[in-house]
Amino acid sequence: MTQPSTTTEPAAAADDTMTVRGGVPVEGELDIRGSKNALPKAMVAALLTEETCRLTNIAAIRDIDVVDELIGIAGGSVEHDPDQIRITAHSFSALGEDDVERLHAASRIPVLTTAVSLHRTGTAVVAAPGGCAIGPRPVDFHLRVLRAFGARDDHREGMIHLRADRLRGARIELPFPSVGATEQFLFAAVLAEGDAELANAAIEPEILDLISVLQKMGALISVEPNRTIRVTGVKALGGFEHRVIGDRLEAASWASLALATGGRITVRGVQQQDLATFLNVYRRAGGDFTIDAAGSTISFRRARRMLRPLAIETDVHPGFMTDWQSPFVTALTQAEGVSVVHETVYEDRLGYTDALRSLGAQIQVFTECLGPTRCRFGAANHRHSAVVVGPTKLHGAELVVPDLRAGFSYVIAAAAAEGDSVIHGVGLLERGYADFRTKLTAVGVDHS
Ligand code: EPZ
Repeated sequence: MTQPSTTTEPAAAADDTMTVRGGVPVEGELDIRGSKNALPKAMVAALLTEETCRLTNIAAIRDIDVVDELIGIAGGSVEHDPDQIRITAHSFSALGEDDVERLHAASRIPVLTTAVSLHRTGTAVVAAPGGCAIGPRPVDFHLRVLRAFGARDDHREGMIHLRADRLRGARIELPFPSVGATEQFLFAAVLAEGDAELANAAIEPEILDLISVLQKMGALISVEPNRTIRVTGVKALGGFEHRVIGDRLEAASWASLALATGGRITVRGVQQQDLATFLNVYRRAGGDFTIDAAGSTISFRRARRMLRPLAIETDVHPGFMTDWQSPFVTALTQAEGVSVVHETVYEDRLGYTDALRSLGAQIQVFTECLGPTRCRFGAANHRHSAVVVGPTKLHGAELVVPDLRAGFSYVIAAAAAEGDSVIHGVGLLERGYADFRTKLTAVGVDHS
């Protein structure tokens, strides 16, 4: 058995290990619940009011646990039913350094409560954030936004202390349309004094879902055609009831599994328009799909014996999402010919290709920009482009999961490979793929 791929953290605990017996086309149906990248942000929005907020279409994912804990420490209450989360933040006290250090290391969500803490207490603490092993993932854009609103920051031993008596609206332009920094802007602007404007904002469906939540709470927000967001601050916000959008990133991951194994997977609970770019690329590669009248049930399948190679460039919405990249590129190892991938959102999101090579894939990674866009990473020597030669017969290997989406790619490759693969660290997948093992069984992947 090949040694675990070297691109990842030390092997995880035994119960975190899965054996996958590959070589069988998948077949099955799955219900996809609330988006991992929308649900926790709606929970943060609930901290902007003392009224009770209700969220439905809940996915049991690890990032919720982090926000649950944060809300509890800050003095709010969170009640869970099988399909509803109720949040009431009667009071809110700023997190201490120890809690900030622990929670910010566990997830990218806690940093989003910085603006909330400034509104409710006049103080906040930020630490170097957590998230996945896909690059440094700094928070400099978040700090730029908060300083523009009048927050003063003081750096002490790896912690950033912020103070603001009252946040005041400002005009800001982001160097890059960052999802998190756009969310931080929204949380700051909705209760700030006066008008605020964010140019070069992110407008992913998950951002628009958060804007819907804030609008239900009483906020005044407009999104301009040139991706500028304008907000007029209000005195107070009320509670809300909201059904979180389905997880389009999870849907695309399962679709890529069907493509790679020559199977068929039907997903219920996501919206066609949120997957429009993915669907086009899927069909170009030789996959196909049928979609019901409501556009919320999509049956994915491979439509050709041999998949077609493609040139893929990731981008912000409505481009090809960076979170679709690793699962989909894994399927391209089965395409007949040479595919080219240019990852322009994260500088280090091709590490998973080392592991795919250990299963027999032929992938070469480059520092050049191999795509029409000269991105931020081309001159900075980051290995952010790849060439994939296919089709390659994959064989079993032993792998260690480095991050959420790469981990799913390993499962795809193992399911497409002949023979057994052992994957360590699959617990990381529960961060974003609720009931992961149950779903694998439902689509017929032989795993234990
Ligand atoms: C969100 O991360 C998602 N996570 C990511 O999904 C997703 O890939 C990403 O947006 C892009 O769509 C959640 O929503 C929890 P960014 P976020 O700020 O907000 C740089 C997954 O697998 N940047 O849009 O952290 C950053 O380094 C995860 O579901 C700064 O330089 O992403 C990156 O290169 C992975 N300074 C780029 O911007 C900052 O202050 C995009 O990051 C902030 C970001």
